[in-house]
Amino acid sequence: MFTKNIAETCHIEALHLALLTLASILLPVNNSLCLELHCYRNSCLQAELVVKKIVKKHFIVDPSLPAGFLRLQFHDCFVRGCDGLVLIDSIGDNVAKKEAPPNLTLRGFEVNDEIKADLEKRCKGIVSCVDTLALATQEGVAFARGYAVQTGRRDGTVSNISEVHIPVPSFSISDALKAFQNISLDLDDLTTLLGAHAIGFCHCGFFVDRLYNFRGLGQPDPNMDSNHVDCLIKICPKPANQTFNISTDPKVFMSQTTNTPFKLDTSFYHGVLGGEALLQLDQQLAFTGITEKIVLDYVKRPKVFRENLLKAMIKLSSVGVLSDENGEIRMNCRKINNPSQ
Ligand code: HEM
Repeated sequence: MFTKNIAETCHIEALHLALLTLASILLPVNNSLCLELHCYRNSCLQAELVVKKIVKKHFIVDPSLPAGFLRLQFHDCFVRGCDGLVLIDSIGDNVAKKEAPPNLTLRGFEVNDEIKADLEKRCKGIVSCVDTLALATQEGVAFARGYAVQTGRRDGTVSNISEVHIPVPSFSISDALKAFQNISLDLDDLTTLLGAHAIGFCHCGFFVDRLYNFRGLGQPDPNMDSNHVDCLIKICPKPANQTFNISTDPKVFMSQTTNTPFKLDTSFYHGVLGGEALLQLDQQLAFTGITEKIVLDYVKRPKVFRENLLKAMIKLSSVGVLSDENGEIRMNCRKINNPSQ
């Protein structure tokens, strides 16, 4: 029954795409720059449907993909604004943002490449990489709960590792807030966006200090539930030294309080209240007056969380967007168009 439904959906989408391709040939092309809903409706009518189709295809095989995209978009928008520069590969002497330590476990690049390659075939040079990322993130999240993302962003042209200043798990709430305020996001946004930690994975290296040697005192973090510490110790061995090898480091579900690790629900906040948050920063949400109030509210009223998350995602995906004559429409998301300029 499940297979039949998917097959039926694919068939309808194929027909839909064929009609849209025809329509975009017949419709006048409007390359005007915009940041609005369905910005490509005249210039590349199929864009949103192509993204939906490809994300869906991968989601069926790997339901953790939306988590990868969400984090990718956060890391992109946080540094210099949403400009797709996190997608760029290093070239020659230029070490790209991708190589910065917080970015080493980002994922979703290949699926984004597949979307972009498909769109380049259909509408050459029209849809930016940063928009494919925004649309793919929105589609991924749509499998949990959707939101309407605007399009029309242009791609940035300078990606350098030295610019990557992203909050780390050991940040206090007030340090993380300062970092968020720098991009015009507030404490509500921080508390709400951290709710994205309901889905996806976390490598042990990001919280192992809390299990064995919190703040160098040789003990677990007293704020982590002791049964939970025992449980995590079975998966995350005590590191032999300070540096962990990300490629061999075990990983666990980001939200430990759920049997729905791919559902963007309020499980993260239940974990925070139960002392089961993995990251030190996340756990502190329970101990800071205002954030605790928000957490309690979200646990009581999941609908409010969903509504606020969608609003916060729209805010995040609009940070520092390039428009008009700034930036470019990259042909290949991993390379700026003309590196010699
Ligand atoms: C503000 C401070 C934040 C810190 C310190 C932080 C830190 C982390 C860390 C250490 C991981 C584990 C990565 C890994 O092991 O591969 C992670 C995963 C994740 N983060 Fe955050 N994060 C923050 C904010 C956010 C925000 C704002 C979002 C979304 C808008 C987000 C979405 C995610 C998602 C979805 C994952 C799972 C990724 C995957 O499965 O590949 N994070 N985060």
